[in-house]
Amino acid sequence: MSVRILVYDDYAKMSAAAARHVASRVNARPGVVLGLATGSTPVGMYAELIELHRREGLDFSRVTTFNLDEYCGLDADDPRSYDRFMWEHLFAHVNLERTRTHVPYGAARDPEAECIRYEEMIRAAGGIDLQVLGIGMNGHIGFNEPGSASNSRTRVVRLAEQTVQVNRAKAEAEELPAFALSMGMGTIMDAREIVLLANGDAKADIIRQAIQGPVTPDVPASILQRHPDVTVFLDKPAAKLLELD
Ligand code: GLP
Repeated sequence: MSVRILVYDDYAKMSAAAARHVASRVNARPGVVLGLATGSTPVGMYAELIELHRREGLDFSRVTTFNLDEYCGLDADDPRSYDRFMWEHLFAHVNLERTRTHVPYGAARDPEAECIRYEEMIRAAGGIDLQVLGIGMNGHIGFNEPGSASNSRTRVVRLAEQTVQVNRAKAEAEELPAFALSMGMGTIMDAREIVLLANGDAKADIIRQAIQGPVTPDVPASILQRHPDVTVFLDKPAAKLLELD
């Protein structure tokens, strides 16, 4: 199995290490194409990347980014949108070129066409070099819910009821769309390198299933076991059910 597992004492240390990892890729290849994730998990890593930009001059000027997903029907300036999230937590604070940041356009009149356009843009950029992932409570990556086909591409997906509830509570939003535009499992697996982050007790069981359980569409993240270059950054609580040597 090619999944590397790195466990840190706490969320702050995990975030700092993940940021160093991403920064090393940016330094090695200034025009790197990054796949980015939303959710609470990568927030600390983004804050560390901002620090590295400010303190050490980490240069994003030639970096291209593609986010995993966006809610259907939300405009980029909607406070609940992932586009807005990325501006708040990373884009506005580093020297990324606006034209090189990409988030699926949730309010597209023709969402199917937007998904095709998104795949084409990824291809035109030369593919994703490093994809950052979080993991949902049901093992979803991006918004690929259980049952997602392993060869799926960017498409419109219906969110699991649990996902809508969990994300609504986290976003403190009364309403969240039940549909999203999401990179597919195949899109994610095409990335040359993948980094998965998870922290906290609540993720321990799904992390065990994803990394040390059978590869099954019931746990979408388990497909990562088939990828040749995956590094998993965990804090101790999220790693507590893993068998580590
Ligand atoms: C959302 C996102 C996922 C993310 C997941 C976990 O559903 N679409 O990309 O990994 O939330 O979120 P959190 O990091 O807040 O647990």
